[in-house]
Amino acid sequence: MSEYAALERELVTAIADAPDEAALEAVRISALGKKGRVSELLKGLGSMTPQERREKGPLINGLRDGVQGAIEARKEVLAQAALEARLQAEKLDLTLPLRESAIGRGRVHPISQVVDELTAIFADMGFSIAEGPDIETDWLNFTALNFPPGHPARDMHDTFFFPPDAKGERKVLRTHTSPVQIRTMQAQKPPIRVITPGRTYRCDSDQTHTPMFHQVEGLVIDKTSHLGHLKWILEEFCKAFFEVPSVKMRFRPSFFPFTEPSAEVDIQCSRRGGEIRFGEGEDWLEILGCGMVHPNVLRNCGLDPDEFQGFAWGMGIDRIAMLKYGMDDLRQFFEADVRWLTHYGFRPLDFPTLAGGLSS
Ligand code: DAH
Repeated sequence: MSEYAALERELVTAIADAPDEAALEAVRISALGKKGRVSELLKGLGSMTPQERREKGPLINGLRDGVQGAIEARKEVLAQAALEARLQAEKLDLTLPLRESAIGRGRVHPISQVVDELTAIFADMGFSIAEGPDIETDWLNFTALNFPPGHPARDMHDTFFFPPDAKGERKVLRTHTSPVQIRTMQAQKPPIRVITPGRTYRCDSDQTHTPMFHQVEGLVIDKTSHLGHLKWILEEFCKAFFEVPSVKMRFRPSFFPFTEPSAEVDIQCSRRGGEIRFGEGEDWLEILGCGMVHPNVLRNCGLDPDEFQGFAWGMGIDRIAMLKYGMDDLRQFFEADVRWLTHYGFRPLDFPTLAGGLSS
C-alpha cells in the first residue's frame, strides 16, 4: 500500500471515530489545516520535478479529496445525530391539556361583581359613588339620621359598640350605609345624586345573616325630586339588574326614622320548582327600604327643608346577589373556599357593562 493510501486510511478512520463536531474539526485541522499533514504534501508538489509531479500529483490530490469527502460525510452524520438528540430532549406532548394561567384561574367574588353591576347601572343614570368609613360616631350612624338617643329603633340594629372614649362617647361599627348620606350632604351642595356601596355590621348570624354584610344606599337631593322619580329609578334598576324586560313592584308603607313617608319595596316573582324568577308569578319578595328624606335629617346637614327635598333608599347587596345568582347560604360568601369561588365567581376580564351585558 502506498504511503498516501496508508495516510488516507488512518485519517478516514480518525474521521469516522470522531464522536462530535469539535473532535472532527481537530482531525480536519491536523490533515487539511495550514500545517496539516495533507497540506504539507500538497505544498511539496511545488518542489518536485515535472516527472514526479505527474506521478504523485493525482495521488496527493486524490488523498485530499478523499479526506475532504470523509469529513463532509461525517459532519452530516454528526449534525443529524445532534438534531435527533435535541428533538428527543425537547419532546412536547401536544395531547396534554393546557394549564390555566393565573389570570384565567382567578375569580371575582360575587359581591364585587354585584357592586360593579350596580355601579354600571347607576353611573348610566348619572349617579356617582360616595364612600364612608366602617367605624362611625354614634351621631352619624344614629342621631343625625333622626334616631334620638334612647329611641327604640336603635335597638333594632344589633349594634357592635366600641368601648367609650375619654369623653364617654362610644364609636360603632356602622349598622347601615345611611351615615354616608349625612357625610355626603355635609360635603356637597345639592343637586346630589350618589350611591354608596359598602360594608355594614350587625350582631347576627344565620343562613341569611352574617355579622358583616353589604348594603348600597341611594340618595337624591335637589328642589323637586319626589317619590314618582324614585319609583322610576328603582324600576329601571330592577329591570337592568335582574336582566328582565319588565318587573312588577309593590310599595308598602313602612317606618324608618330618617324618611317620611317611608316604604318597603317588594318585587313580583315566581318560586316554582324552588327557583326564583322575576317579572312573573304570584309571590312577592322584599328587596329594599326607601322614602323621602326626613326634614330633620336635612336640617342636621345644614339644608333648609323648605328649599331642598329628595329621596333615599337602602338595599342589601348580599341579598340581591343571592337572588340573582342562586346561592342559598350567605355564610359561604365569607368562608373563602376556593371551590365555592370557582363555581360562583366571575372571570376577571368580563367587565359588567350595560352595552355588553352585566353578567355574561
Ligand atoms: N338603613 C336602612 C336599614 O339598614 C335601609 C334604608 C331604608 C335606607 C330606607 C334608606 C332608606 O336610605 O330610605 O335597614
